[in-house]
Amino acid sequence: MGTLCFLSIFTAMILSSQAQYLLPITKHEPTKQFYTTLDIGTTVKSPLNLLLDLGTNLTWLSCYKLQSLTSLHTVACGSVSCEAIPGNGCNENSCLYQQPNPLISSQNVTGRVVQDAASFSTTDGGNFLSQVSLRIFTFSCAYGLQGLAPPLDGVLSLSPGTSSFPIQVTSEFEVIAKLALCLPSYGTGRFYVASAYYIIPPFDNSTNPIQKTSTPMVIDSGGYQISIQSIYVDGTPLTIFGKVATRLSTMVPYTVLKTDIYNALAQSFTLKAEAMGISKVASVAPFKDCFDARNIATGPDVPKIEFGLPWKTGEVKWGFNGANSVVEVSEMVTCLAFYDGGQYPEDWIVIGTHQLQNYLLEFDFSTSTFSFSDSLLLHDTNCSTGTS
Ligand SMILES: *[C@@H]1O[C@H](CO)[C@@H](O)[C@H](O)[C@H]1NC(C)=O
Ligand SMILES: *[C@@H]1O[C@H](CO)[C@@H](O)[C@H](O)[C@H]1NC(C)=O
Ligand SMILES: *[C@@H]1O[C@H](CO)[C@@H](O)[C@H](O)[C@H]1NC(C)=O
Ligand SMILES: *[C@@H]1O[C@H](CO)[C@@H](O)[C@H](O)[C@H]1NC(C)=O
Repeated sequence: MGTLCFLSIFTAMILSSQAQYLLPITKHEPTKQFYTTLDIGTTVKSPLNLLLDLGTNLTWLSCYKLQSLTSLHTVACGSVSCEAIPGNGCNENSCLYQQPNPLISSQNVTGRVVQDAASFSTTDGGNFLSQVSLRIFTFSCAYGLQGLAPPLDGVLSLSPGTSSFPIQVTSEFEVIAKLALCLPSYGTGRFYVASAYYIIPPFDNSTNPIQKTSTPMVIDSGGYQISIQSIYVDGTPLTIFGKVATRLSTMVPYTVLKTDIYNALAQSFTLKAEAMGISKVASVAPFKDCFDARNIATGPDVPKIEFGLPWKTGEVKWGFNGANSVVEVSEMVTCLAFYDGGQYPEDWIVIGTHQLQNYLLEFDFSTSTFSFSDSLLLHDTNCSTGTS
């Protein structure tokens, strides 16, 4: 009896340690907000759309959307659940949490900390399989959400903090602390938790797995950073450059560069483009450097931009072809898809979603490593599961 019991627990542990989860990612246009959908509630379940934010510490949802949930309960001040959230507050014995609104930097969102079940799907790396529930999911319920696109009900925390959604899931289910994003340029993409392998045809789990390149990931109070040590345009390094701490963001639509880095990149890109017969045209706000789209061959075929990143074996490169480096603003005009962030931005480089989409991006907390695939477009595939 004792042995049987031990064996079944042991088997369950092995199974759960290999489990992985998959949630959809939808890109909302024209706001370019990327959100996932999961069910909140125990008996009555409500599907909610939540913005994916790598910098938010605790998931927050509109209290209005939670009214129908009979199983929702508040968290008392001083309780284990409340004390587990760094920076928690208290009001009339209700645990509170205040954090910045990722969409409106000058505004804070304050909410009561609440708990209910969250349900989502297991996966074999490619398909949605069966529903599982995190029985006690801790998040906050707030009023007056501003800046969210109409279909959105709140913000899902993907931060490295202990209260984030992936950390709550991976610690409760005892699976590897890892998340992966495949942001779609349209339609539905993929958000993996505890991912072990990926099946995105033609990539499979055995003969043709997705190849990934890695670089150290630094976890700080604002989320995730990597270090860019050089930038190349068609193989030529930008001359003014040192190591730059670089933030990864699902909130920023186009990579933001400190002015001198932006200028060096734009100047080098323009020279290489002109050598390809692509001429400069008047800029179209918010972009500063635009080109005659009629000179650009399909691809779009423009100079290649690469970020040089440190790794144990030496420098590795993250390459961006036209689909991720330029944006077509009209039939006539294509612009360099980067923003000039001014002379004194908080972060010198923030990599945004136009550059991140259609790559498989893996954030591994267990090894503090960030890994990225080639652009999936180079392999005749992409992050979208549906058609346009
Ligand atoms: C927002 O909340 C933080 C604490 O999370 C606090 O330090 C800051 O002063 C607040 N800002 C505003 C504008 O209320
Ligand atoms: C994928 O590969 C892993 C490790 O080789 C294996 O454990 C797993 O069963 C495979 N899954 C599928 C769906 O092929
Ligand atoms: C997230 O939590 C950490 C402490 O755990 C804190 O330093 C940081 O300011 C918080 N970030 C936000 C955006 O609230
Ligand atoms: C994305 O991939 C799907 C197949 O998974 C394909 O039907 C679609 O045409 C592709 N879209 C682009 C823009 O490459």
